[in-house]
Amino acid sequence: MYNSKIAGLGFFVPENVVTNDDLSKIMDTNDEWIQERTGIKERRHVVKGEDTTTSMGVKAAQKAIERAGIDKNDIDFIVFATLSPDYYFPGPGVLVQRDLGLKTVGALDIRNQCSGFVYGVSVADQYIKSGMYKNVLVIGSELHSHGLDMTTRGRGVSVIFGDGAGAAVLTREEDPKKGVLSTHLHSEGEHAEELSLIAPGMGKRWVTDIIGDADPEDTSYYPYMNGQFVFKNAVVRFSEVIMEGLQTNNLTPADIDMLIPHQANLRISQFIQKKFGLSDDQVFNNIMKYGNTTAASIPIALTEAWEAGKVKEDDLVVLAAFGSGFTWGSVIIRW
Ligand code: UT7
Repeated sequence: MYNSKIAGLGFFVPENVVTNDDLSKIMDTNDEWIQERTGIKERRHVVKGEDTTTSMGVKAAQKAIERAGIDKNDIDFIVFATLSPDYYFPGPGVLVQRDLGLKTVGALDIRNQCSGFVYGVSVADQYIKSGMYKNVLVIGSELHSHGLDMTTRGRGVSVIFGDGAGAAVLTREEDPKKGVLSTHLHSEGEHAEELSLIAPGMGKRWVTDIIGDADPEDTSYYPYMNGQFVFKNAVVRFSEVIMEGLQTNNLTPADIDMLIPHQANLRISQFIQKKFGLSDDQVFNNIMKYGNTTAASIPIALTEAWEAGKVKEDDLVVLAAFGSGFTWGSVIIRW
């Protein structure tokens, strides 16, 4: 049995910066509310026609492959996590296979929203551990902005989410004490509708229901979030799944060198930081610049932390996510 390790990281965000003041021009919101409740100062939105979820994922992947020091033809498998695919089907995994010009390797799409990258790393880890694959490309990419309700009605959600992509190449690690030590995944579908986008979906049954006499009051085409309920569950599940990962490896919060939490809300990250007694150097946040990019948030943050020299050889790195489903998970890595 082998371990897997992250051999290369990359991210891409669109150039178009949208500040809180920009949003306050099109809906009843303000910089003070957004910063105080979420920590977000600005986010990136794709200018129509310039990028897609797949194209951003491809750009992030190219960087990750280059940094892993492998040829793209050495990629054995693709895992793509997103809640905002280009098409209803096929998923973006095959589009990456095509657009990167890869051999006919397998491509798997993951529908786990904010936990998507953590689930993706877990899948890649299992394939590498079993010896089936040596190099797995894991991408998290989101294009939220085209699908948000940019009116005051949607402000509780629309100010939070941003566009971007991150990618990692996971590769075989021979040393059993290094690389991904363990992964921990959970779900609780009881709360599925508390953070969801209902349409389009076959739950609506008939395509005419989806595109027919559009009801101006029908908000089911826009993401919905019961913010306070999600917040309360997030802080509990984040804490649980980080502890689960640490305890599995006989570690304690004091052993964490770098925690990369899913960038849902700065207040959630700060709560976890305080709860585990971690210093500012032990937790990485970039939600201020990018908002919540769901499946892309952890690989973007991990790449930025690594680029800044904040993730070093032998560091204990913890990834943790919580989101729609609800799903949550953690990854414990000895870098
Ligand atoms: O990434 C996946 C997981 N997601 C999360 O973990 C997110 C968890 N939830 C949250 O981060 C927070 O609940 C939010 C940031 C979404 C909302 O913050 P909150 O402190 O829970 O605010 P709230 O929803 O309770 O709304 C408070 C007030 C309401 O007005 P009233 O009813 O008190 O008059 C809202 O209508 O703030 C109002 N409001 C806004 N005001 C200005 C909601 N959105 C906005 C806005 N600008 N954008």
